[in-house]
Amino acid sequence: MANAIESVLVENRVFPPPESLAQQANIAGMAAYRALCEEAERDFTGFWGRLANEKLDWTTPFKTVLDESDAPFYRWFADGELNVSANCLDKHLTNGNAEKTAIIFEADDGTVTRVTYRELHARVCRLANALQAAGYQAGERVIIYLPMSIEAVVAMQACARLGLTHSVVFGGFSAKSLHERLVDTGAVLAITADAQRRGGRTIPLKPALDEALGMGGCEAVRQVIVYRRTGDEVAWTEGRDAWLHEVEAGQAETHTPVPVNAEHPLFILYTSGSTGKPKGVQHAAAGFLLWSQLTMEWTFDLKPEDVYWCTADVGWITGHTYIAYGPLAAGATQVIFEGVPTFPDSARFWRMIQAHKVSIFYTAPTAIRSLIKAAGSDVKVHPNQFDLSSLRIIGSVGEPINPEAWMWYYKEVGGERCPVVDTWWQTETGGHMLTPSPGATPTKPGSCAMPLPGIMADIVDEAGGPVAQGQGGFLVVKRPWPSMIRNVWGDPERFKKSYFPPEMGGHIYLAGDGAHRDAEGYFWIMGRIDDVLNVSGHRLGTMEVESVLVAHPLVAEAAVVGRPDDVSGEAVVAFVVLKQSVDESEAPDVAKTLRDWVSKEIGPIAKPKDIRFGENLPKTRSGKIMRRLLRQVAQGQEITQDTSTLENPAILQQLGKSH
Ligand code: WT7
Repeated sequence: MANAIESVLVENRVFPPPESLAQQANIAGMAAYRALCEEAERDFTGFWGRLANEKLDWTTPFKTVLDESDAPFYRWFADGELNVSANCLDKHLTNGNAEKTAIIFEADDGTVTRVTYRELHARVCRLANALQAAGYQAGERVIIYLPMSIEAVVAMQACARLGLTHSVVFGGFSAKSLHERLVDTGAVLAITADAQRRGGRTIPLKPALDEALGMGGCEAVRQVIVYRRTGDEVAWTEGRDAWLHEVEAGQAETHTPVPVNAEHPLFILYTSGSTGKPKGVQHAAAGFLLWSQLTMEWTFDLKPEDVYWCTADVGWITGHTYIAYGPLAAGATQVIFEGVPTFPDSARFWRMIQAHKVSIFYTAPTAIRSLIKAAGSDVKVHPNQFDLSSLRIIGSVGEPINPEAWMWYYKEVGGERCPVVDTWWQTETGGHMLTPSPGATPTKPGSCAMPLPGIMADIVDEAGGPVAQGQGGFLVVKRPWPSMIRNVWGDPERFKKSYFPPEMGGHIYLAGDGAHRDAEGYFWIMGRIDDVLNVSGHRLGTMEVESVLVAHPLVAEAAVVGRPDDVSGEAVVAFVVLKQSVDESEAPDVAKTLRDWVSKEIGPIAKPKDIRFGENLPKTRSGKIMRRLLRQVAQGQEITQDTSTLENPAILQQLGKSH
């Protein structure tokens, strides 16, 4: 109860932007923010056309800003041509940024490597030349399975330079997940590393790729390029495998970028949906590039002298937009980090901010919460032991940030002088959608504030109609925007079905989150409306975990739900019916077997925190699993509702025991 009261008090607090930002930010003051919003409302295509012309270098200028003739397959700047990599690198060779540091890479063991824009350009050109010489053609797909590294950015940029569509797979994903993506994209090339280093440990990468390729169906893969990161011994397939350094050796350091159509697929990134199979979210070159650059300037107020650090992994959308593309397009100096926030201790972030004089810091609530815990039990890792005075803006992404964590972040990390930009967006949106503008919007702990200019977000009922202020509803975007998802790779029907419900007219983007708006127009995200969980800021479909569980020979049936968790936001709880029941003493071993199975099949993030065994699952007479009930059981709540319609009400007792 005390906690609830405290939350309410915190939520009612409002923090105006610091005076200096309100005067000098890229969006300085609410009037400037409103002027941009009004421009977009008054002349929607004029607004986006102006920005696309001002911000991007086109090889063929566009004439049409937005083509809605085949909605919801919206097309932006579709008669224009450009190259994304040229916009991220080549332009900096002539605008005064050539000798500016592009990347400060800090490895797991603390080793620091710096590259300038000139050097990064040269490296990307060398790889692009090698790939071009090997015959790879625009439009072909490349799987990238690399650790956080300069090489990962080089690989992505080299693909963009040739119009190769990349699909980055997070290093924590399993061989099976890799295999699905290799097959679904029809990849012709895979780029990986021998292994990665995280928290002092070596985690092999190439063996998982070898295993995936061995599963069959990926015969289109002509070559595997391997970055030697750890020097660990790896199996080698002659004729197929090649070392990155050997591939790059002797290649020229200049390369003519291949112009592509604005709508050319820049990348495909898989994300969980409410069915078992992840969706390949397809993004388009020009629109994505525009928004990644613009939101660096608007949300992070990026200025030439900033040192920016986003702690995400390139395997997620945040690492695409806010590491591999946006910061480079905007000419930032950025920190890229290989390791984890808790190694060698939980002061790693604070020590790195101090050492590199980071001025813009962007991380996830789950990391903040785990560091709050650590700082609470060991003062040596408390941020107040470090000089964080270089910070001027701090951001949050991936899940709702609870007001208590927000306040700690604001006070202990931001020293009460840095606006917290709580950015709401998704893999599908390509970039920020709802966020405070740090020089304009007064912030409220726990609210992602308001839509960026040009983003027509709203909250509606099932039929797309308005809801009263304060009332919960579906978060939607009523007009298209340049960095929006273009398709689900190879599955246009799923694209339409997932995001553009016919009940709402078939052209309004349904985000899949519930939200409400307060009297001042601030959005408050209430969480997913579908069977998608958010574990440590990572999206996970409950069906995805269920289908892996039922594929295990011991399992007859499974249902997966989320349970609130102090650190990870949500934790996975699995209810399992075994083919042959086990007694109490065997249950922990079986639970471990199943946990390891899920981890191997999907990846460690999907590992159920809690497994409950029962003779059956609570179902209605029509056979539908009662998930709401399971969510209550998972949280140890008392079941107050009528359970007389259940086939076997006694089952709830059994399922209450965790393993
Ligand atoms: C889902 C998208 C955004 C890039 C990383 C995650 C949740 C994301 C916030 C936020 C509340 C948030 C939503 C969304 N989410 N940011 N600031 N406040 N919820 O991308 O894996 O595509 O997940 O993450 O539920 O739908 P993603």
